Amino acid sequence: MSKPSKLALVPFVSVDNMMNLVNAIGPARMIAEIAEYIEQDFKRWEQFDKTPRVAAHSDEGVIELMPTSDGESYGFKYVNGHPANMARGFQTVTAFGVLARVDNGYPVLLSEMTILTALRTAATSALVAKYLAPESAGTMAMIGNGAQCEFQALAFQQVVGIHTVRLHDIDTEATEKAARNLQATGLKVVTCASAQEAVTGAQIITTCTADKQYATILTDNMVGSGVHINAIGGDCPGKTELHRDILLRSDIFVEYPPQTRIEGEIQQLDPDHQVTELWRVMTGQVPGRSSPEQITLFDSVGFATEDFSALRYVRDQLERYPHFVDLDMLADPDDPRDLFGMVARAAT
Ligand SMILES: NC(=O)c1ccc[n+]([C@@H]2O[C@H](COP(=O)([O-])OP(=O)(O)OC[C@H]3O[C@@H](n4cnc5c(N)ncnc54)[C@H](O)[C@@H]3O)[C@@H](O)[C@H]2O)c1
Repeated sequence: MSKPSKLALVPFVSVDNMMNLVNAIGPARMIAEIAEYIEQDFKRWEQFDKTPRVAAHSDEGVIELMPTSDGESYGFKYVNGHPANMARGFQTVTAFGVLARVDNGYPVLLSEMTILTALRTAATSALVAKYLAPESAGTMAMIGNGAQCEFQALAFQQVVGIHTVRLHDIDTEATEKAARNLQATGLKVVTCASAQEAVTGAQIITTCTADKQYATILTDNMVGSGVHINAIGGDCPGKTELHRDILLRSDIFVEYPPQTRIEGEIQQLDPDHQVTELWRVMTGQVPGRSSPEQITLFDSVGFATEDFSALRYVRDQLERYPHFVDLDMLADPDDPRDLFGMVARAAT
């Protein structure tokens, strides 16, 4: 068998290598650095091709493709969301993605993105909170203590400067797991028996639960003035976390309105309800938080540019941290037109 040519090879970051990369850089630093890449890309929002993600729904969950391009690079992520998976021993969310050159269409990176999605979601949440959370917010309630939970807590510690996280999950084992994992971070961790208890004294409330139905993780009476809500888990048609009355009292900030109106908390509102696009806040066109009493809500669903930014970040690390293998992924015949001949010669 002949060896693949250089053009055939695409760097592949496996789960194992992603873990090596995260541990070499340090999870908190990596989240903060991904947040910088995400912010850079939000600030050049108009350069990107944007489309709501392509979703295939079933009774059990959803499989989605998330493409975007800045004209130089093209990226996409494959991701699923299956709330019943955990009980069956599977992850709720798994993902992988590709970054490619636009000029010749050749992929330049193939990467696992289950871990990278948790990092980029946390990075996005914390980045957005930098613009929207009340000044000197020190305590975050974290409702839903599953796979994303510790990444979120770490991101808010590193980027926003919180010192305390108040954990709650309907499954106490999940809370115990998160508390254990967060022990070494220096965060003060308080475990709470109810969502009501968790939000007490918190300036930031993160909801990060998984349920394939309209859920009410927060009711109106639980949300006082001046808080920032980081709503992660409502990210599909029919899958929300907040009571509608909270939305009506909040200033709502979103990634890409055409996608969020389908998938986010605002699917509960009129299609023309006023929302603010985050890229406008980050470019200084409109204010973020404008008063101490205001309730700000990041109606997060996860947008393709954030994955693009995360893939860009990983690609940029590979020279310094060569945690990848080369995959023989692209057929590269000596004569570009002789694809058949290449196959036939391989038989001899
Ligand atoms: N917005 C984004 O960019 C983005 C990115 C990734 C994941 N998500 C979403 O975030 C959510 C969490 O993802 P995950 O990977 O951590 O899922 P997970 O299944 O690992 O964890 C979810 C946790 O929520 C808990 N939970 C369910 N109902 C609850 C309730 N009523 N009160 C308190 N806790 C409750 C479950 O016990 C579980 O521990 C999912 O809905 C996922 O689709 C959003």
